[in-house]
Amino acid sequence: MSLPRSVKIVEVGPRDGLQNEKQLVPTAVKVELIERLAEAGLQAVEATSFVSPKWVPQMGDNAEVMQQIRRKAGVAYPVLAPNLKGFDAAVEAGATEVAVFGAASEAFSQKNINCSVAESIKRFEPVICAALALDMKVRGYVSCVVGCPYEGAVAPQKTAEVAQRLFDMGCYEVSLGDTIGVGNPVSIQRMIEACARHVPMAKLAGHYHDTYGMAITNIYASMELGMRIFDSSVAGLGGCPYAAGASGNVATEDVVYLLNGLNIETGIDMEKLLAAGQFILEHLGREPASKVAKVLLAKKG
Ligand code: HMG
Ligand code: MG
Repeated sequence: MSLPRSVKIVEVGPRDGLQNEKQLVPTAVKVELIERLAEAGLQAVEATSFVSPKWVPQMGDNAEVMQQIRRKAGVAYPVLAPNLKGFDAAVEAGATEVAVFGAASEAFSQKNINCSVAESIKRFEPVICAALALDMKVRGYVSCVVGCPYEGAVAPQKTAEVAQRLFDMGCYEVSLGDTIGVGNPVSIQRMIEACARHVPMAKLAGHYHDTYGMAITNIYASMELGMRIFDSSVAGLGGCPYAAGASGNVATEDVVYLLNGLNIETGIDMEKLLAAGQFILEHLGREPASKVAKVLLAKKG
């Protein structure tokens, strides 16, 4: 077994994290958080989502966020766009990378985006075409890759089919979401092996929520198979409004600590990352979900 020499982390806190906060976070706070994360060395910071504000009011200031962030050269700021309406609004607001999001489970697809898996693929097609015509990159998400809050266990083949569709339609990367954090190293590896039969491993990312504390273990298990892109959320913020009980993504601090310990390059400055986490937590009036952040912040005093 050989682990990768470097790993890319896609920071999803400003989107996946803040979409699930009960309180509306002011736009200026979101903008500062995104800028701090880019300064900490993250190469991709998912900034917001262009979804219906009736469904997810937390992302209702999407255009303002995109217009106000000071962009750092070399950093990508993808945004979610579930349909052409969202895509057009994203482009209008200055987005240069979008992400479509499907699911491996029918029930979750209905709850999350109000259509079947097959219908969602039909909706994504024009979004991906329009994006590619503008030379924009499109990321693809598959949710519920090993388990669904409504349907229970999800077969690896089902996830692989959706991942393949997204990749074949033109997504440059497919992020595999354990939306409710029910995966373990064995189920995650089986699922990745099924996907990697259709999508090159270098194009697959792991997006693991840490509901049961399994996410770090699952990242290690994924790296054993050669995966080297992971989504995470500063301070472990996050969850999905359409997956009851889903907690935050694995904390970026935990991932960076693991990778630093394994001498795997991330390009991320832990001090600046901790400060970004402290900044948003102070605003939310909350302690970090990350044990690493708790310990390192306590040491600093
Ligand atoms: P719908 O109701 O089926 O769509 O929603 P519709 O086309 O019938 O439109 C209904 C209304 O929504 C209309 O407005 C549209 O204009 C408006 P009305 O006439 O009633 O005033 N609308 C929009 N407004 C703004 N932006 C848009 C848009 N589209 C329609 N893009 C839709 C379909 C997908 C829009 C809706 O279901 C929705 O917004 N869902 C939110 C889904 C979401 O944000 N979920 C969380 C993100 S996914 C996630 O967290 C998982 C992930 O992290 C991976 C993992 O962890 O597994 C990615
Ligand atoms: Mg998520």
